[in-house]
Amino acid sequence: MIREYEIIETGDGSHTLKLAGEKMTFHSDRGAIQESQHVFVKTGFDHFIQKSVPGEPVAVFEVGLGTGLNALLTAIAATQKHKEVLYYSIDRYPLPAEIYTKLNYPDLLKAPVLYKAIMQAGWEELLPVAPFFSLQKINGDLSNYTFNRQFDIIYFDAFAPGDQEEMWTENIYGKMYDALHPGGLLVTYCSKGNVRRALVQAGFTVEKLAGPPGKREIIRANK
Ligand SMILES: C[S@@+](CC[C@H](N)C(=O)[O-])C[C@H]1O[C@@H](n2cnc3c(N)ncnc32)[C@H](O)[C@@H]1O
Repeated sequence: MIREYEIIETGDGSHTLKLAGEKMTFHSDRGAIQESQHVFVKTGFDHFIQKSVPGEPVAVFEVGLGTGLNALLTAIAATQKHKEVLYYSIDRYPLPAEIYTKLNYPDLLKAPVLYKAIMQAGWEELLPVAPFFSLQKINGDLSNYTFNRQFDIIYFDAFAPGDQEEMWTENIYGKMYDALHPGGLLVTYCSKGNVRRALVQAGFTVEKLAGPPGKREIIRANK
């Protein structure tokens, strides 16, 4: 199936994507960069590295590479903080170059070389793409993916439960829990009560935290 995408400008001037014929977008329409930075980098990565052992790499697993925005922001943070990151990201539907080359993240974040390195990196092997940042892109379906290592942080950035309910099940949360090291954490932009309760069922201790503009609360779930 060929997927068609529309590029949309969000409230902070950064782009997001919408699947043609569907209502869901890849990011908040209030601001894609603002949302990714707040939910994943600040609440997930920055929080985790405060308590991590200096000199030890941090392993991140992302659900949904999509535009590569979370990967780019994390690579920038890793370089600024001199923290080595091993970043694994799964996507069932990798974006074609004709779409991602039109996105304005490299200009807005002044990181054209880094963005290109991330989006053009090969798949299925862990490759150094920048100082402090190695990336393994995985072309696969999270539902039947078998983890072969554990992680410190999971960025759970699937489409919303109302749009893709098969990604928000107790079975998936259990897989996420098992894929984390003790002390690891999962962050997501969705704070619905049934998501929170199912994460608790899976074994997580769940925190509700302030969201980015337009989103009252987000979740950080701790193992
Ligand atoms: C909300 S978007 C991700 C946004 C992305 N993190 C970014 O910064 O652009 C959700 C992503 O999940 C991917 N996806 C959908 N179903 C999937 C599945 N079953 N397994 C893995 N990825 C999936 C989509 O192709 C899409 O790129």
